[in-house]
Amino acid sequence: MDTAALLALPRLCALWAAVLALFPCGGQGNWMWLGIASFGVPEKLGCANLPLNSRQKELCKRKPYLLPSIREGARLGIQECKSQFRHERWNCTVATATTPAQLGTSPLFGYELSSGTKETAFIYAVMAAGLVHSVTRSCSAGNMTECSCDTTLQSGGSASEGWHWGGCSDDVQYGMWFSKKFLDLPIRNATGKESKILQAMNLHNNEAGRQAVAKLLSVDCRCHGVSGSCAVKTCWKTMSSFEKIGHLLKDKYENSIQISDRTRRKMRRREKDQRKIPIHDDDLLYVHKSPNYCVEDKKLGIPGTQGRECNRTSEGADGCNLLCCGRGYNTHVVRHVERCECKFIWCCYVRCRKCESMTDVHTCK
Ligand SMILES: *[C@@H]1O[C@H](CO)[C@@H](O)[C@H](O)[C@H]1NC(C)=O
Ligand SMILES: *[C@@H]1O[C@H](CO)[C@@H](O)[C@H](O)[C@H]1NC(C)=O
Ligand SMILES: *[C@@H]1O[C@H](CO)[C@@H](O)[C@H](O)[C@H]1NC(C)=O
Ligand SMILES: *[C@@H]1O[C@H](CO)[C@@H](O)[C@H](O)[C@H]1NC(C)=O
Repeated sequence: MDTAALLALPRLCALWAAVLALFPCGGQGNWMWLGIASFGVPEKLGCANLPLNSRQKELCKRKPYLLPSIREGARLGIQECKSQFRHERWNCTVATATTPAQLGTSPLFGYELSSGTKETAFIYAVMAAGLVHSVTRSCSAGNMTECSCDTTLQSGGSASEGWHWGGCSDDVQYGMWFSKKFLDLPIRNATGKESKILQAMNLHNNEAGRQAVAKLLSVDCRCHGVSGSCAVKTCWKTMSSFEKIGHLLKDKYENSIQISDRTRRKMRRREKDQRKIPIHDDDLLYVHKSPNYCVEDKKLGIPGTQGRECNRTSEGADGCNLLCCGRGYNTHVVRHVERCECKFIWCCYVRCRKCESMTDVHTCK
């Protein structure tokens, strides 16, 4: 056992959580597992020492070979969240806790955990999807005994249309099952009305994330036949890139549905005149309106947009107007030096000139 790593563990966990500011490392948080993304080789630490809750530790002990996939899933989800939101006021990083001791006890993270906003919805969905994606890839790579390629597709196809199933089709079933098993635990004893509805919301959004992976399975084919004539094609099902899945979820986020905070047997829309419109499995749901993320709020763990780089000509979320919340922006001139006008000199080297350019960089006031 690597004791140095063990000693560093609570700090790493705190550090990681401070960077991402998702959920507490202490307590029964369902989200401690994301800390695994920051470990070099989590397998070496053993399940007992990883930032997992008790039921996840149980699962980890039974299936330790899934640890690399869990880690990869966390990494995928975090990276995609940052990428999808890089131009927005909320950019998937909320640096808040200043000391490790604040984690777990601090209301900062309590807020994030229970805020029930659209952003919470996206986080849950993208993390659940990340697990499905990484576990499925591991299945297809033949790394697992419990799952492999989709064997139901190995024969068949359409001879008349000149194609048949072949190769390895991604089988998301096992990944979906594992993601559910690993994430869909009740986060804490839901006693109050509030936590019950938030729990229902979180479970729904987990499932929406998994559905996104299944929905974006596509078919790839390869041609065979005399000199690329494509007389015969072999086709297989393949998952979309995680970036595509992230795009779909971002779209779902933009169109997410606010649900009523009254507990009922079934969740329903908050807007009374829209209640006839059904809620689908793959919709993202939220309970509370988001703060505007404009100004720093230490209590809620919101850094605000002061100092963020904005685009003066963009009309979108990254435009100075929207990103800076109307506060205006500062302009700095940044000097770039690049190699340019490179020429190939016979023989054999390349000679370049140094070119200077100036660009304006705008940052929010
Ligand atoms: C499969 O296992 C090999 C060897 O352990 C590893 O290098 C590879 O990254 C794994 N692939 C996936 C997709 O998990
Ligand atoms: C939840 O409640 C049950 C029974 O009421 C109790 O045994 C269990 O320890 C509680 N779990 C947590 C995490 O508080
Ligand atoms: C995200 O926002 C924070 C706070 O405004 C900022 O410090 C950080 O640089 C931003 N990250 C990116 C990738 O723009
Ligand atoms: C700024 O926004 C404009 C319009 O959307 C775009 O064409 C341009 O590439 C952006 N500039 C940068 C530096 O991102």
